[in-house]
Amino acid sequence: MEFSVKSGSPEKQRSACIVVGVFEPRRLSAIAEQLDEISEGYISNLLRRGDLEGKSGQMLLLHHVPNILSERVLLVGCGKERELDERQYRQIISKTINTLNETGSMEAVCFLSELHVKGRDNYWKVRQAVEATQDCLYSFDSLKTRKEEARRPLRKIVFNVPTRRELPLGERAIAHGLAISEGINTCKNVANMPPNICNPAYLAEQAKILESDYNNVTTDIVDEKQMAELGMGSYLAVGRGSVNESLMSIIKYDGTDSTADETNPIVLVGKGLTFDSGGISIKPSEAMDEMKYDMGGAAGVLGAMHALAELNLPIKVIGVLAGCENMPSSNAYRPGDVLTTMSGQTVEVLNTDAEGRLVLCDALTYVERFEPELVVDVATLTGACVVALGKHATGLLSTHNPLAHELLNASEQSGDRAWRLPLWEEYQDQLESPFADFTNLGGRAGGTITAACFLSRFTKKYHWAHLDVAGTAWRSGGKDKGSTGRPVSMLTQFLLNRSGAEQGE
Ligand code: BES
Ligand code: MN
Ligand code: ZN
Repeated sequence: MEFSVKSGSPEKQRSACIVVGVFEPRRLSAIAEQLDEISEGYISNLLRRGDLEGKSGQMLLLHHVPNILSERVLLVGCGKERELDERQYRQIISKTINTLNETGSMEAVCFLSELHVKGRDNYWKVRQAVEATQDCLYSFDSLKTRKEEARRPLRKIVFNVPTRRELPLGERAIAHGLAISEGINTCKNVANMPPNICNPAYLAEQAKILESDYNNVTTDIVDEKQMAELGMGSYLAVGRGSVNESLMSIIKYDGTDSTADETNPIVLVGKGLTFDSGGISIKPSEAMDEMKYDMGGAAGVLGAMHALAELNLPIKVIGVLAGCENMPSSNAYRPGDVLTTMSGQTVEVLNTDAEGRLVLCDALTYVERFEPELVVDVATLTGACVVALGKHATGLLSTHNPLAHELLNASEQSGDRAWRLPLWEEYQDQLESPFADFTNLGGRAGGTITAACFLSRFTKKYHWAHLDVAGTAWRSGGKDKGSTGRPVSMLTQFLLNRSGAEQGE
């Protein structure tokens, strides 16, 4: 897809299609009004006859509108003008893109980016439009022998901004939107890949691909032998039941002037369970296939690293993909086992399905060597998070308030939302063990919080936040099932903010 911005009037466009908004009830947007005048009331006539009410998401495709140079005009219902919010804006863009893609317009000039969305500037509207477009055009068909393709797919879209002064801002929004979308697509592709193909070695290969594509990216792969030397007894235990070797992929990005610069890196750690059967505490078989998405955290980190490299931001970031597979076997770790973590702390395993924290805790100790400025881990860690927050918000837990606020800000800005849960000392008691320093299981009450409590015992040496993406990393169910690409957008926004990059007005 090709994107550009322009500042022009609708009647002068010579395009396959121009896209303009109509509000409810039957009210023309300013741009639609201009078209109506030129076409001598053609559009208002249609509305009067009841062809389009203007309800959010309604579409009416017109051909050969009098005196209009473009072949088609797509009228898009935008709901009540004063109620147009961020979510509706994104939905309207998505529907528009689908309609354009299905009705043979290979290019279009879209004026929806000029609509007023409460509290949002032109940068935001153009960037969101790019992200929504790319999201909508994504399909995972690399494993299908017969691919469904639109006959005349949309190839090129121009978003209009009100004045020429806004053009540089619009161009920046497109560049950012495209980089983030690339990261999101990387995340989706690797997360959707089935677990017989996507194993820890596959994750390592993806890291290597990033290294070969960008010259400020290098990688390091930590294998089981090295993990044993490092004393990562907890991480190793989880992978022991699988024939697929555990591999921790380290992706280092340095966009600074590295000779002079001694800043500490930001570290992102992703849970990379390429399949979580539950192990000996095996999961019920219903929807177990979805546990291929248990590497969604690692996919999110990989995607954010990709977006970052594409944006070439002047910061240092290290991404860790903690690859591992949790399987039952005669060699698997068991409930009752006591493990020694890399930190030296011992853990009594009460449930082998609470494996994510056992992998992450050693990865979190490992990253101390980078003397991080801060660490954010991303994990499909608890079913309890889906119960608490549903599928709309990522769970955010942190021991450092400023970092929590920075992440919440990034989530608001990007529309990739997160909600904070408490991490009070009181919850720590639920991890007490008679046989080891603590257990890996906190019981039913506050499962997301006690999982984060467990991790917090390994993150004392730096500022840390934890994102539980169990509800947001993928969509469950039938035809619509698939990776969402979250939280790439939030993480990249966080990095954009950190780098001090210029964004909106
Ligand atoms: N990967 C799962 C969490 C999960 C479950 C994410 C369902 C998304 C949907 C994790 O490893 C797990 O199994 N967690 C257990 C923890 C429990 C045993 C304390 C859970 O949530 O049931
Ligand atoms: Mn599990
Ligand atoms: Zn898991």
